Amino acid sequence: MNWNEELLEKIEVDNIKNLEEKKKVAEKVAGKVKDNQTIGFGSGTTSYLATIAIADKVKKENLKITAIPTSFEIKMLCTYLDIPTANLSERKPDWSFDGADEVNSSNWLIKGKGGAMFKEKLNIINSPITYILIDNSKRVSYLGEKNKVPVEIYPDAINYVKEELIKLNAKEITVRQAVNKAGPVITENGNLILDVSFKSITQTLEKRIKSISGVLESGLFIGYNVEIIEYKN
Ligand code: 5RP
Repeated sequence: MNWNEELLEKIEVDNIKNLEEKKKVAEKVAGKVKDNQTIGFGSGTTSYLATIAIADKVKKENLKITAIPTSFEIKMLCTYLDIPTANLSERKPDWSFDGADEVNSSNWLIKGKGGAMFKEKLNIINSPITYILIDNSKRVSYLGEKNKVPVEIYPDAINYVKEELIKLNAKEITVRQAVNKAGPVITENGNLILDVSFKSITQTLEKRIKSISGVLESGLFIGYNVEIIEYKN
C-alpha cells in the first residue's frame, strides 16, 4: 500500500547558488539515463536538480530505473518523485552522478559540504563511471583553495584523530556546527565532521587520513574513475 501523497515530504531547496548553470549540467546527466538502469544518486544542490531532471525524463519516456541515494534527503526526494530506491547491498550501479565542492586539473575532488561523503565514495567506487556535475565556481588551481577537507569521525576518537591530523600537517581543525540544533552536526552514521585545512594536499593524503583509527571517511577523492560534466557558456 502506498502512503497518501499529501503525507509525503516535499524536499525543497531554496537559494541555490549558480542555479542556471547547475540546471544545465543536471539536464545533461539526465540525458544519459536509459531504461532498466540502476543509478547512484549523489547529494547536494546539483544532485537535487539532477534528481528532478531525471525524474522528469523517466516520467516522459516511461522508463524504469532504480536509484541508490547517498543521503536521507535525496532518498526522500526519490520517494516523492516516484523513483524506486535500493542500497548497495541490494544492487550495483550501472553508473553514478554527484556534485563536488572543488575539482583540480587532475580531476581530484573535495566533496562533503553536505556531510554525505561516506556513501558518496561508496557509490563512486562501486560504479564503472561517475559523472561529476560542476558549475564554473568549482574549478580550482589547487585542492584546498576555497574549501576545507571534511573528515567524518567516531565522536569518542576526536582528540586522537586531531593529534594524528596535526602530524599530517593540518593547519586548522574545526568541528562542524549544526544550524538549527545546538551543538555539532551529527551525520547519518551518528558521527562528527571535522573541517580541516592542510598546508598542502598531496596524492597520498587521502589514504593517510583514512588510516587513522576513528576516521570513517574524508572528503578527498584522489584518482577515482570520474568524468566531469562542466557548465560551458
Ligand atoms: C555533499 C557533496 C556535494 O556534492 C557537494 O558539496 C556539492 O554541493 P552542491 O551541488 O550543493 O554545490 O559532496 O556531501
